[in-house]
Amino acid sequence: MHERVQGVPVTRSFALEDYEQKQFSYRNENFLDKALKHTSWNAKTFAVTNTITDLAPLLVIAYAGYQVIHGNLTLGTMVAFVGYMERVYSPLRRLINSSTTLVQSIASIDRVFELLNEKYDVVDKKDAKQLMDVEGYVDIENVSFRYDEEELEVLNNVTLHVKAGETIAFVGMSGGGKSTLISLIPRFYDVTKGAIKVDGNNVQHVNARSLRNNIGMVLQDNTLFSESIAMNIRMGKPDATDEEVVAAAKAANAHEFIESLPYGYDTFVGERGVKLSGGQKQRIAIARVFLKNPPILIFDEATSALDLESEHTIQEALEKLASERTTFIVAHRLATITHADRIVLIENGEIVEVGSHEELMRKQGGYYNLYQVQHLDDGTI
Ligand SMILES: Nc1ncnc2c1ncn2[C@@H]1O[C@H](COP(=O)(O)OP(=O)(O)OP(=O)(O)O)[C@@H](O)[C@H]1O
Ligand SMILES: [Mg+2]
Repeated sequence: MHERVQGVPVTRSFALEDYEQKQFSYRNENFLDKALKHTSWNAKTFAVTNTITDLAPLLVIAYAGYQVIHGNLTLGTMVAFVGYMERVYSPLRRLINSSTTLVQSIASIDRVFELLNEKYDVVDKKDAKQLMDVEGYVDIENVSFRYDEEELEVLNNVTLHVKAGETIAFVGMSGGGKSTLISLIPRFYDVTKGAIKVDGNNVQHVNARSLRNNIGMVLQDNTLFSESIAMNIRMGKPDATDEEVVAAAKAANAHEFIESLPYGYDTFVGERGVKLSGGQKQRIAIARVFLKNPPILIFDEATSALDLESEHTIQEALEKLASERTTFIVAHRLATITHADRIVLIENGEIVEVGSHEELMRKQGGYYNLYQVQHLDDGTI
């Protein structure tokens, strides 16, 4: 339901209402079927237990009455016995009636524990040290990686040494492994082979939170939470003052559009608030990173959701942010990364070319070809 309701625009745009309605009815029938079975089972147990517990006292009273008449039993004993019987029956009845609920709860509890017992993919080592005062050297050494043991390698023996303050751009075909490579730096996953080092420390040997404290990320789809814009920016640094938040928004070229919203920085966004465009969300995500002020930056298609003019303003903001920091940029539009110190062309999980824009253009290899294609497509470069 959740997925389909979220995807209503897709359903409408493909005019799939009838098809989706059928799918829904089919699944709903299945659910109805189960619910009916459950209810009928409930009714049966209820009927059986109630019949037994209602008939039994009659039998007891009849037999005891007979015994009293014949003088084998005193009236007092009989009354007491019948009184106690009721006391035994009502808990018994409740117990049986709640047994179906109990079985149902046990099934639910199993699922809850399945979730609670789920293991973390990435666990800190016992003697993991805190990563402090990071300068921003990043060494990617013979890294191979696969998401799943059964699957093929997504990255294959990648090596790249990055100096503090350098700007590195990753380019290449879709599915080449760019996003995968950059997600290994903050250790969202552990490498399969090789090592990633920050300032010479293997990321597997440092405390993951201290590592991530030093890394700022702007990703392709940026999540805003159902809170005010100010709170959303403040995620970069929870104890930031209002002035700091505004300064960060200005640096990210977001201040103007925020001011024009009905309640400025106190405007609610997310599911219950105003809807922002992709570019506006991206600028808020960039403001977060400005506020966090980390020594290492990672942008995965940070300008993909923007028109050319906004791209230019964001580009300015990003370049401001990137100066004097180690920066990794993934971009499809090559015009946005020509300024990078080094451009890395990744294909099928391997590095095929490394060099500055001029060097790679002179080489007339894969990067040159990509650039030519975009140049033809797009007169703005
Ligand atoms: N969470 C995941 N689980 C399993 N496989 C994945 C996962 N994410 C990506 N892959 C696979 O890894 C490969 C590389 O994907 P990746 O997202 O790194 O490519 P990319 O270079 O960033 O592509 P794009 O330019 O389209 O963003 C793809 O074949 C993809 O199917
Ligand atoms: Mg990607």
